[in-house]
Amino acid sequence: MPPPLPQRRSPISRLPSPATTAALIRRRTTLRPHLAILLGSGFDLVADRVDVEARFAYRELPGFPVGNVPGHAGQLLIGRCDGVDVAILSGRAHYYEGFDLAEITYPVRVLAELGITAILLTNAAGGIHPRLRPGDFLVLSDHINLIGQNPLRGPVPTGRERFVDLTAVYDPGLRRMLRDAARISGKVLREGVYLAVSGPSYETPAEIRAFRRLGADAVGMSTVPEAVVARQCGLRVAGLSCITNAAAGLGPGKVSHEEVRETARTVSARATALVGGFVRRFGRSEPA
Ligand code: HPA
Repeated sequence: MPPPLPQRRSPISRLPSPATTAALIRRRTTLRPHLAILLGSGFDLVADRVDVEARFAYRELPGFPVGNVPGHAGQLLIGRCDGVDVAILSGRAHYYEGFDLAEITYPVRVLAELGITAILLTNAAGGIHPRLRPGDFLVLSDHINLIGQNPLRGPVPTGRERFVDLTAVYDPGLRRMLRDAARISGKVLREGVYLAVSGPSYETPAEIRAFRRLGADAVGMSTVPEAVVARQCGLRVAGLSCITNAAAGLGPGKVSHEEVRETARTVSARATALVGGFVRRFGRSEPA
């Protein structure tokens, strides 16, 4: 008799229960935030704005993916920002690093268990819309998933839906708060469609032309998995991109990680002010 085939277990069933990890976090803080913010490239200085009550390295938290991209700190902070209790995910893991989408999105499931009701997902992206310039910000109105995977594939977590509606992923009320926060700094914030690819190579100019025809305004390698899982968990979702470069073939030169990092660095003060304005508006709309 041949030996039995090994059982294939999906990544989600290998991960600890989100409730267990949430309980571990709850033991170290009395704060019960409703708002979470995931800090991508360009937004990492938001963490300095937080009066931290509890700090966890991702490696201390069972199931949290420890990424390896410079500029992504890998810490969960629970504290107060602009007078509002917040949970900050400082840094994320990416699909291109080799993680499964279930692993990448696990922190969102934990925060949902912790009691957050809304999440702001931030990222760096290449600009496709002709009006977008490096240094601009874009509020996500919708997305296109070309990662080639769906984060909800596999077993359905208890109490969650199998088939999740994505008709309105990005919450109109949260989008308005972002637009209002930008207006006080004299900037009009554009809204548009974010297209996610797996990376890690940047795109070809032909791909970017195709993406434009598909209706994309910006392109990046993150955010969509977290947004989809957040919707499965019933969270209100907002997305904010920092346009760090013209997408391939639309600018004068090559696309490089150095350019992405450099633009992200130069906009970080504005990014932080914008997120601060958003947090204050969120706090007013949903007093603790
Ligand atoms: N393409 C994909 N991801 C990105 C880009 C880009 O041009 N810029 C920042 N992240």
